[in-house]
Parts: sequence; C-alpha cells; structure tokens
Amino acid sequence: MNAELTILGLESSCDDTAAAVVRGRDVLSSVVWGQTELHSAFGGVVPELAARAHAEKIDLCVAEALDRAELTLRDVDAIAVTAGPGLIGGVLSGVMCAKGLSAGSGKPLVGVNHLAGHALTPRLTDSLPFPYLMLLVSGGHCQFLLVRGPQAFERLGGTIDDAPGEAFDKTARLLGLPQPGGPSVEAEARTGDPKRFAFPRPLLDRPGCDMSFSGLKTALLRQRDSLIADQGGLTRQDRADMCAGFQAAVSDVLQEKTRRALDIYLSHDPVCPGFAIAGGVAANQGIRAALTGLCAQHGVNFVAPPLALCTDNAAMIAYAGAELFALGQRDDMTLQAHPRWPLDKSAAPLLGSGKKGAKA
Ligand code: KG4
Ligand code: ZN
Repeated sequence: MNAELTILGLESSCDDTAAAVVRGRDVLSSVVWGQTELHSAFGGVVPELAARAHAEKIDLCVAEALDRAELTLRDVDAIAVTAGPGLIGGVLSGVMCAKGLSAGSGKPLVGVNHLAGHALTPRLTDSLPFPYLMLLVSGGHCQFLLVRGPQAFERLGGTIDDAPGEAFDKTARLLGLPQPGGPSVEAEARTGDPKRFAFPRPLLDRPGCDMSFSGLKTALLRQRDSLIADQGGLTRQDRADMCAGFQAAVSDVLQEKTRRALDIYLSHDPVCPGFAIAGGVAANQGIRAALTGLCAQHGVNFVAPPLALCTDNAAMIAYAGAELFALGQRDDMTLQAHPRWPLDKSAAPLLGSGKKGAKA
C-alpha cells in the first residue's frame, strides 16, 4: 500500500460521531464525539436522537480532525466514509457530509463498510499479514471473520441473537450497576465466585462457530428473581457472584468457539498465523486472557489493538479507505447508505437485531 496516502475518515453509524486523518499507518488525528450521555436514560441508542446529534457534530469533528493533523482538505488524497451497516439516519449524516466535502474539494470519495474498518484495524496497528482470523466482539457485533484481503472476508460464525456487549449491558441493568455494563460487571466479578451459580453455555453442544447470548441474560434474570423471592433482596456478594458466573459463561463460550474458528483457519495453512480481536468487549481482562492463552497453545500471533482503535472510531475507516483507494475503489454522488451490509455476502444472514441496530 502507498505509505504516503493521506485519508480523511468519517464515522457515524452508531452512537459515536468521529473523524480522523491517517497517513500510511500513522494516525495523525482521531476525534470521537460519544453520545453515551444522550441515550443514557433510554436503556439503548435512540436512532432519531443519534441521527440528529451526528448531523450537528460531524462537520465539527471533521474540522477538529484536520486541525489536529495540521492539514486542510487540500492536503488529503481522498475522503473515506462509513456507508453502512448501522442506524440509517446516522450513516446518512456521514455520507451526506462526505459527499459535500468531496463535491466542494474535488477529492475522491470512498465508501467503507464499518465492519471492514474494524476487521482491517490490526493491519493499521500491527501490519498483520493476510490471511488472519478476527473476532469482532462489541455491543452491536459478534462474529468470526477470516480476513483474506481488504475486500475478501469469510464469516465463520456469529451470534444469532444478542451481542456479548449487549448482554453485559443488560446484566448490569438487571443488577442495578452503572452503564456501560461491561466495565461495571467486570469490576464486580473480581470479588465474586464464578462457580456459585450454574449459568448455561449456549450452543456449545452444537457444531460450528455460531453463538447465542440472550438465554444467558434470561438465566441471570431468573436467578436474581429467585434470590429476591427467597431473601427479600440481593447482597453485595450475590451480585458479585452473579457477575462472576455470567462473565465466566461468556468467556467459556467465546473461548470454545474461538478454538473451533482457529481450527478452520489453521486448516488453510497460513504462513504467519494471526488472530486479532476488536470491539469494546475486547477490553475484558478475563476474556482477553482466555483468548491469549488459546492462541499461545496454537502457536498463533495474538493481536489486540489499543482500545481507542478497537471501539468505534474514524481512523479505522480512513485506513480501510486507504486500502480500498489503493485497489482503485472510487465512489461518487450515487454512493448510498446501507442499514445492512454483510461483509460476507455468501454467508446466510444471522438472526436478530441488537440495541445498536441491525447486525450484519
Ligand atoms: O465497540 P464498542 O465501544 O461499541 C459498539 O458496540 O459498537 O463496544 C461497547 C460495548 C458495550 O456493550 C460495553 O459494555 C462493552 O463493549 N464493554 C465491555 C468492557 N468494556 C466495554 N464488556 C466486557 N468487559 C469490559 N471490560
Ligand atoms: Zn463498531
């Protein structure tokens, strides 16, 4: 890839408005305007509120990103924008803004799949060679991708209902812990006994790499209600034990399904085997340790990009845009926003739709 390409990236597919400038593998600037506060009272992202906030903030983010990179639009080679999948109002805000910038500056436009942005991040941070295996695990996504090239993805499996981050968030809500749920459940779990409650490990009895997390949350709800009925409430220890049990169940499922995905990946005899994780749940120390150990056992290089590049950001969109631009992709004013846009078009659609919109 041309190391000198300078790309402006825009991202607005969910609840983060973001812009970034990337040159080669250098992130010159990355601005992320989160909307957590805006949606906190509603128990999930409200699409209309998200779209309005994106429309208000996206041009400010672009100006800030260029400013921090000490560049102007004249200095960039192309403008990359998330064109889906995601909440349609948000995706439209980004696409319209990028089209305006492209029309005004004459710079080429490149539409990027948000999931490709996540999937190509280990190349930005660690120059990971193709083919590698990726586990994308966040509040909106959960899938194994065999990444063969910037436009060649094979989905080996994914969740058929909730994403793990969504299950962490719901667990926190059920136990009265603050949002986002992942970090608060992880903190409680530190003093808990993971063996006290027998939570299920869904779909481990079935072959393949598909996963399910919604039954786990229902099991936790039943356990909570039965404790409340028996004792009139929850003790601090009950809460910690439930968090530890829940986290151990998620970790076990991810570990076993990753083992199966690695077997499929390694059967292709990659020259430099690599496994990467992305998404907010990748921050979980227990899950990270389980997957690191698994990779060590299989002689596979484990890559976990810094958290700021694992969660939603525009640097990943700029970088993916650079790879696509180098391959000759150019879009124009007909570029459309796609609410659904699977990376692997040959894979059967997964069921369900998460709190952050349709899962691709
Ligand atoms: O990638 P991300 O920032 O946003 C999208 O979902 O696109 O991921 C956020 C999700 C939330 O559901 C949050 O609870 C979860 O990642 N998360 C964690 C941890 N930190 C964040 N889940 C488990 N353990 C954590 N330490
Ligand atoms: Zn994402």
